[in-house]
Amino acid sequence: MTRQSKLAVQALQWTGDALKVLDQRQLPETIVYDEYSDAAGVAEAIASMRVRGAPAIGIAAAYGVVLSVMRHYSAGSDQWRQQVAADIDRLAHSRPTAVNLFWALDQMKAALIQAQSDPLAAALACAEKIHADDIAANHAMGELGADILAGAKGIMTHCNAGALATGGYGTALGVIRSVYRRQPVNVYAGETRPWLQGARLTVWELAQDGIPATLIADSAAAWLMKSGAIDWIVVGADRIAANGDAANKIGTYSLAVLAKQHGVKLMVAAPTSTIDWSIKDGSSIEIEQRNPNELLAPCYIKEASLVSAWNPVFDVTPAELISAIVTEKGVVLNPSEHGVGSLKHADQ
Ligand code: MRU
Repeated sequence: MTRQSKLAVQALQWTGDALKVLDQRQLPETIVYDEYSDAAGVAEAIASMRVRGAPAIGIAAAYGVVLSVMRHYSAGSDQWRQQVAADIDRLAHSRPTAVNLFWALDQMKAALIQAQSDPLAAALACAEKIHADDIAANHAMGELGADILAGAKGIMTHCNAGALATGGYGTALGVIRSVYRRQPVNVYAGETRPWLQGARLTVWELAQDGIPATLIADSAAAWLMKSGAIDWIVVGADRIAANGDAANKIGTYSLAVLAKQHGVKLMVAAPTSTIDWSIKDGSSIEIEQRNPNELLAPCYIKEASLVSAWNPVFDVTPAELISAIVTEKGVVLNPSEHGVGSLKHADQ
């Protein structure tokens, strides 16, 4: 474990023989990187949300596969392919909703199948490409999203879809960064109960970049919209179905319903690795249920036997409530009209 005094918004760092993971459970008070040298550790870091956010989970898992190849192939095991397959399976079971995890693992499996003489070099090249492509995609989305948001006075975001949740720059926060470079804009972040990604991560991350943001209680969102202070809500996604339905942090659907009532538009910014082409709509997206103690503990309720809690951590916003889906390959306006199929073969 290493402690850093200088702030650097980087969720993941590959050292050459280990993966350093910024422990997001401890932000904003403490900046601590934990170092992992095996896939089991990376799977645990994902499950425990030291690293979180759909693209960052995928990137971490990819490096987890590299660590597995290092451990088993490089050590000369005859069984290395089976051992790596078992590690891939373990990584795939770390969290269920973000499709970027499964997409990244599929990329890694394909790279290992194609690898001729040096599986470790092939795995590392693939993981580093997933990481670099994600950062590039975020910058592309930032510009495309900022074009649409030209002239916006106020933008609200939910959860943390920033550098912390990706390879760098962010999806929703990437768009907000790009807008902010072009024009002044008021940024609002919902606290995002129960895990407080908005309160602990988003406002902190924006502050590192000198972008002022106003934190609001989740329950203040309707009143903020009623005040006329925001024109757009910009969020990320964990999985987008072919028809444009989008799974994202619990509370996104509530915001979308409120936005419709108040004439506020909703933008979903996500790389195409977040699109699950195998599902036609959002009804088949598995919604992760986390430990009820994430809800109970902050209320000092120790006797879980006396109080139950329901803790779904994602919801699905139907395409009809989304004004724009922004990806690195292009933008789909009003996705409820034709879904996101136009992006499938689009060139960047
Ligand atoms: O539970 P989390 O913190 O992993 O949820 C993250 C989100 O819902 C993000 O909005 C989503 O993954 C997009 S991140 C660019």
